[in-house]
Amino acid sequence: MNHITDLCAFLDASPVNFWAVETVRQRLEEQGFSRLDMGQAWDIEPGSRHYVVQNGSAIFAFVAGSGSPRKGFNIIAAHSDSPGFRIKPRAEMPCEGGAVKLNTEVYGGPILYTWFDRPLSLAGRVALRGSSPLRPDIRLMRVDRPMLTIPHLAIHFNRAVNEGNPLSKQKDMLPVIALDCPKPKGLVRMLISETLDVDPDAILDYDLSLYDTTPAATIGLENEMLSSGRLDDLSMVHAALTALLDKADEPSDYTRVMAIFDNEETGSGTKQGAGSPILEHILRRIVTAAGGTDDDYLRAVADSFLISADDAHGLHPNYVEKQDPTNHPVLGGGPCIKVNANCKYMTDADSAAVFRSLCDIADVPCQYFVNHSDVAGGSTLGNILTSQIPLRGVDMGAPIWAMHSVRETASTFDHTATIAAFSAFFAQ
Ligand code: CO
Repeated sequence: MNHITDLCAFLDASPVNFWAVETVRQRLEEQGFSRLDMGQAWDIEPGSRHYVVQNGSAIFAFVAGSGSPRKGFNIIAAHSDSPGFRIKPRAEMPCEGGAVKLNTEVYGGPILYTWFDRPLSLAGRVALRGSSPLRPDIRLMRVDRPMLTIPHLAIHFNRAVNEGNPLSKQKDMLPVIALDCPKPKGLVRMLISETLDVDPDAILDYDLSLYDTTPAATIGLENEMLSSGRLDDLSMVHAALTALLDKADEPSDYTRVMAIFDNEETGSGTKQGAGSPILEHILRRIVTAAGGTDDDYLRAVADSFLISADDAHGLHPNYVEKQDPTNHPVLGGGPCIKVNANCKYMTDADSAAVFRSLCDIADVPCQYFVNHSDVAGGSTLGNILTSQIPLRGVDMGAPIWAMHSVRETASTFDHTATIAAFSAFFAQ
């Protein structure tokens, strides 16, 4: 299967963060990676393949290096989450006229109006009564058909809609799930019970979100573009995973690591986010399991490199003035290095040089992204992670349009080129 067909399948299988991690997990298992538990002892052989799941929404995979315990880590980090709408507890809202809405809360920063009038559905996880009160039984859940929509107001009720239309997250953005329902109050519980085939009384809680059921697709005259939800950042997750699996058989003194964090879109401040010490704990335990000391761990960190991979803004043909005059990455121009004078990105000349060298080895072009000096720009994983572990590293990503739209656009060439650059990194 070519990388783009595979990426589309990956995106469609990963409607929300929990499912993205499950998709990654299944692919790792198929390639002989075995699961390690943070609460158990670890047995790691040189060259062995393992992964750790945190909270069901972050996943860390590695191929143990064959060098000494103080040999470094080559790490690619990306994130599993995307902006959207989370279903609130006690979500059902019966309305005048009989329709039932679900109450939602916005997650991260979606472009709200792109979510109107789409075939939406629900995915996430459900917590069922478990063997002890402290250990609920966690199940993944996905309603596999279009089920909801956020209907826009007709233009006849707001003739000025095309002149700018402020939206209330609480009033304008609630999805409708039914036209008529005899027992609206138990609707979500009933849906979970039917989908998972469990007793409604066993359902204690859920983390469910809306997703757009429209599949990913290539578009453009030559199929040179990709249109999908969640390209930010699942395209980088897919590129990192593909490169890791591609190179896992090749021996290396370095330990190759793929770190997929959750909650980047809300600032990374959770136990499964890049602001937590989870990766630091995992790296330390890899060194310890290989017989290394604390000193060896610190020496391994000093010998390590991080690629923080999160999609970037490609030059938009309708808004070229928004971008920096000399550093505006274009779709189809290859992966881009992100640079910021105020250190919102971790990139410096040293780490940019590393990434450019990797692109040279892979024989792919590479671009720069720098903010227009009057535009604030966003942040990403790199700096948050280096506040936990002082790694050398670069922030980069493939350029996309419409970041945080329910459907973003990328270039198929850039994705293939990014995989090639990541493979060159994991070949070191
Ligand atoms: Co992102």
